[in-house]
Amino acid sequence: MTLVRETSPIRLRDYRPPAWSVEAIELEIDLGIDSTEVSSRLTLRSDASQPTPLRLDGEGLELLAIALDGRKLEAQDYHYGQSVLEIHGARDGSVLETRVRVQPAANTTLEGLYLSGSREHGFLLTQCEAEGFRHISFFPDRPDVLARYTVTLRADRERFPVLLAGGNPAGSGDLPDGRHWARFVDPHPKPSYLFALVAGRLQNIQRNYLTADGRQVQLVIWSEANVIDSCHYALDALERSMRWDERSYGRSFDLDVFHVVATHDFNMGAMENKGLNIFNAKYLLADPDTSTDDEYRAVEAVVAHEYFHNWTGNRVTCRDWFQLSLKEGLTVFREQQFSADMNSAPLKRIEDVALLRRTQFPEDAGPLAHPVRPAEYREINNFYTATVYEKGSELVRMVAGRLGQEGFRRGMDLYFQRHDGHAATIEDFLAALGDANHIDLTAYLAWYSQAGTPHLHAKGEYDATRQEYTLTLSQLTRPTPGDAEKKPLPIPVKLSLFNRAGQMLPLQLNGEAQGDSVEKVIVLGRPTQRFVFKQVPSAPVPSLLRGFSAPVVLEYDYSPDELALLLAHDVDGFNRWEAGQQLAMLAFDTLRDGDDSTACKAWCNALAALFTHDAMDDALLADLLTPPGEIEFADRQSEVDPARIHAQRETMQLRLAERIGIDALLARYRALAAHVGEPQLDAMSQAGRRLKRRVLELLALVDAEQAYVLAARQYDMASGMTDRLAALSLLVRRCAPQAASALAHFRERYAGNPLALDKWFNVQAQVPGEPALAVVKNLESDPAFTLKNPNRARSLLGAFASTNPSGFHRADGAAYPFVAERLVQLDALNPQIAARLATAFNGWQRLEPQRRSAARQALEALVQREGLSPNLSEIVGNVLQ
Ligand code: ARG
Ligand code: ZN
Repeated sequence: MTLVRETSPIRLRDYRPPAWSVEAIELEIDLGIDSTEVSSRLTLRSDASQPTPLRLDGEGLELLAIALDGRKLEAQDYHYGQSVLEIHGARDGSVLETRVRVQPAANTTLEGLYLSGSREHGFLLTQCEAEGFRHISFFPDRPDVLARYTVTLRADRERFPVLLAGGNPAGSGDLPDGRHWARFVDPHPKPSYLFALVAGRLQNIQRNYLTADGRQVQLVIWSEANVIDSCHYALDALERSMRWDERSYGRSFDLDVFHVVATHDFNMGAMENKGLNIFNAKYLLADPDTSTDDEYRAVEAVVAHEYFHNWTGNRVTCRDWFQLSLKEGLTVFREQQFSADMNSAPLKRIEDVALLRRTQFPEDAGPLAHPVRPAEYREINNFYTATVYEKGSELVRMVAGRLGQEGFRRGMDLYFQRHDGHAATIEDFLAALGDANHIDLTAYLAWYSQAGTPHLHAKGEYDATRQEYTLTLSQLTRPTPGDAEKKPLPIPVKLSLFNRAGQMLPLQLNGEAQGDSVEKVIVLGRPTQRFVFKQVPSAPVPSLLRGFSAPVVLEYDYSPDELALLLAHDVDGFNRWEAGQQLAMLAFDTLRDGDDSTACKAWCNALAALFTHDAMDDALLADLLTPPGEIEFADRQSEVDPARIHAQRETMQLRLAERIGIDALLARYRALAAHVGEPQLDAMSQAGRRLKRRVLELLALVDAEQAYVLAARQYDMASGMTDRLAALSLLVRRCAPQAASALAHFRERYAGNPLALDKWFNVQAQVPGEPALAVVKNLESDPAFTLKNPNRARSLLGAFASTNPSGFHRADGAAYPFVAERLVQLDALNPQIAARLATAFNGWQRLEPQRRSAARQALEALVQREGLSPNLSEIVGNVLQ
């Protein structure tokens, strides 16, 4: 179906440098909850080669006054319409002064200046990325206009005792009528999307930090008073991030003070505003009573991510929003390196690849597929995607792997040296990395401009007489919307060869000297290529794509025995897990033909053996005992029936639990549960909790009654959220008789804790199958439910639509119109959140016919609705294609 769209897309190839830029901006902001006045003074620069009138972005601004070079402008000197302020008579060096009014409390979009919390107790804050600054003041709101900011805030002292903006403090004081002021000067020119302010009643914790280059920095974390005690973990994580960036990249912080603020009202995870990071409380607050182990690690990761942006994003920013992955992919990669260093490297890799497969692969395989650097977009906020972030990080990882640790560091040094203080492109990035190492990396650019996940087909042939092993690799990327012809990409394949005794063989590629290395990276650069290994004494089992060396789908026709061998012996922690995942896929595929397939037996036997293997790390064992998720199984099928996938995945796990046996599961659970007392955050304790959860889940499949009793006990006795939520989740998902009282207890105990309450909604939205929809509808009438808070809306509707396939895709299709209706309601409040939730419909074309037609009907009705935001219409329009 074709859609008539109002706007035409913005295209990368149309990029022009700014005709007007801003050298300096002075902002004076009189803050009020209902009405805030913003006075701005811009010192303008014009590009003589582009003689055009001055045009500034401005959305929904009430213009109160305007003057150019000290002269008040008359109506004929300017025009404000269609989101653009056009001014005649400006020249290079002109000074433009404007004063506008905005309405923070009425702003439900959480973009621009808005109110977090209640009118009585809440605080004011801003979110400008990507194009929020134009909702605050007139400005060339594009990332390649870098200006020096001087910001003066004025407000009632009693209502807004704390006034913050990015940059160094430059004075504060009293004003008449109980008001006060504070000024901040940022010495580093920055684009407008990095501007931020915060004002209200906030508490802080702080510490001093001495940078490697000798600067004293004050680190301050701010939150509302009742949660300030939950900020200590984030402050530690911030310090660890700062040290790590100094050690690993030689980069230090560059202001005298670094503020971090927590809010419960935030569209995304967090934001790297220069010197004033703002966080969704979910990614900043951490305490044992509220946060799970996974959430502690998420806080550490997001704190690091935003901090790392100070160099990859802020000091070197993006020329235009097409280059978004230049900062996001790179910063995700840096965070992944950091988290791997702070925690377990293989577990981090497993977690990240699982995330990529659960979120990015489906995106890349459906109608929303887009390149890491898209060629066009309509609504930039719809491009903060798994592709730009997670696949973008994988691309940096491939290039970093190609250069090696030292080479990559050399390249990054050159990148910072060349582009510090400027707005750069992905070409600039690859050029700096390549030039520093005298290597041409331009072939990798194709990865950035081509959507779709390549399928890497591998085939091995062993010639016993010649003692040669030939590996034939070929690649194929399926067409994606608007891009039928796919180019071959450079695909680095890290590999080892195992003999049947589980030992790695020395690798000697044809034409290369003999060495004793047992691991090698070969790069497939063409559609098909053959690699011949010499002096291979027996038919080997290849361990391919070790560490997930490229973001592709590997197709190799392993036998169950071969995968079991890798699962038992591979020393690459990631590939060991991966062998288990592949074996589970085989088990899943063959389950249909009867329960006792060879693959299923091999999977169960191999895991049962590892279960009793003492040397195995508890956390890795927990991950090994977990088959791929329902979304990953669905991703490999056409005619998807989510109910059946759920049932089959259950059956597999039942076989596994039977094979391990009730006694062994029970004994292991008891041993793991014997550690009581305050929850510790060390890796061993976390690993123990992770395994305990998995063991209890398996036990529930073979001895439900006993498992429920243990879960109820675990819930009651839990000293931290990890154990408590694991128990609750098990009881709720399995509809155990003990679920109701645990839920009631949780609801009451955490009534005043929004982050914990989000989990209460989330857990119930995960109930599998038909019952889920009624549960969700019922929860909507809980007094704590609201569409206005993104975390809350996501905890119920997002959890249901995006992470509960058997619940959302119920056979009668009844969940589709229900979610569509909520999308319309959400859209009226917050288009960014509505558009994000709508991506849950991605993949509907591959559903079995009954569900598919129900989904189509709901989407077609939705797209016809009057007054949808550009954000939501773009997603729904694209999903429908
Ligand atoms: N730059 C932020 C981050 O790293 C994300 C901000 C996205 N904001 C948005 N409105 N799309 O993670
Ligand atoms: Zn980021």
